[in-house]
Amino acid sequence: MSHAPLAAYPALRLRRLRQSDWIRRLVRETVLTPADLIWSMVVHEGEGQVPVPSMPGVARLSVKECAKAAIEARRLGIPAIAVFPHIDGSKKDAIGSKAADPDGVVARAVKAMKDAAPEVGIMCDVALDPFTDHGHDGLIENGKILNDATIERLVAQGLMQAAAGADILAPSDMMDGRCGILRQALESAGYQDMMIMSYAAKYASAFYGPYRDAIGSGKLGSGPVENPGDKKTYQMDYANSDEALREVALDIAEGADMVMVKPGLPYLDIVQRVVDAFHVPTFAFQVSGEYAMMKAATQNGWLDEDRAILESLGAFKRAGAAGIITYFAPQAAKLLGA
Ligand code: PBG
Repeated sequence: MSHAPLAAYPALRLRRLRQSDWIRRLVRETVLTPADLIWSMVVHEGEGQVPVPSMPGVARLSVKECAKAAIEARRLGIPAIAVFPHIDGSKKDAIGSKAADPDGVVARAVKAMKDAAPEVGIMCDVALDPFTDHGHDGLIENGKILNDATIERLVAQGLMQAAAGADILAPSDMMDGRCGILRQALESAGYQDMMIMSYAAKYASAFYGPYRDAIGSGKLGSGPVENPGDKKTYQMDYANSDEALREVALDIAEGADMVMVKPGLPYLDIVQRVVDAFHVPTFAFQVSGEYAMMKAATQNGWLDEDRAILESLGAFKRAGAAGIITYFAPQAAKLLGA
């Protein structure tokens, strides 16, 4: 019998540091805590909770329920909530007229949550897609998504969210130059302290499917105006990685305080590259499709749910993420002993 590897490296037994829980804890390189989580939440205009079929365990919450959830977030040690709106289809149009509505459900939810639990940070998506009947994040002319005209609408939306009391604005539209223009507008309007977390490297992804369900997003490629059936002319090609670094560099130069990579788990290589290159707080979004996949498997008994949740979130920390936007936030915080 040959013992060549051991003979060559007689002292090298990496299993020594794995032999019991106390030593594994002692040499652990990264740790996940509730403070790493941003709770992704959907608000709707009606009463109570409306379950989202493709996301078992997730429901659209009324404004009142959002306020309760904010109190729950505080109790669980979850620092922040990212809120996404579901509005009635009849209120949507081609230009997303309701996006900057100061009496809309986003403004009301932000106020209710800040009143209920002012210690919890509230992040708002700056994007038109919950408000457009075609489901795109921009204005459209002759079948094309307009960049600069869209940004004007986004600025109005962002200022409305700031006025409502949001703490972080998160532009998720992928228009060029939006962070800079938004930042300037915030400065001029006296919102010097407003944080921007830019969806800097956001990929055109199949994994957003259940989210579009959750917010009742218009079906791409349909509706009264001619529009593309996907978001590939503004969101990134999943084959690209260098391009993500260019996107991040621009957004930081334009005034973003934090950046995000999205989706999450299939894009950990991007998270790691961004962290290594820029050393700015970098977040990852564990998106609706990732949630749905894990739920489907755990509900079938094919995966151990608790372990799968913690392992997936822990992987983001290992890749260098400052935190994770996730629909699992409350469940994960409880598992972490909050
Ligand atoms: C819209 C937006 C999307 C998500 C967050 N903001 C969808 C999209 O770009 O089509 C996805 C969230 C998720 O899938 O959980 N700008």
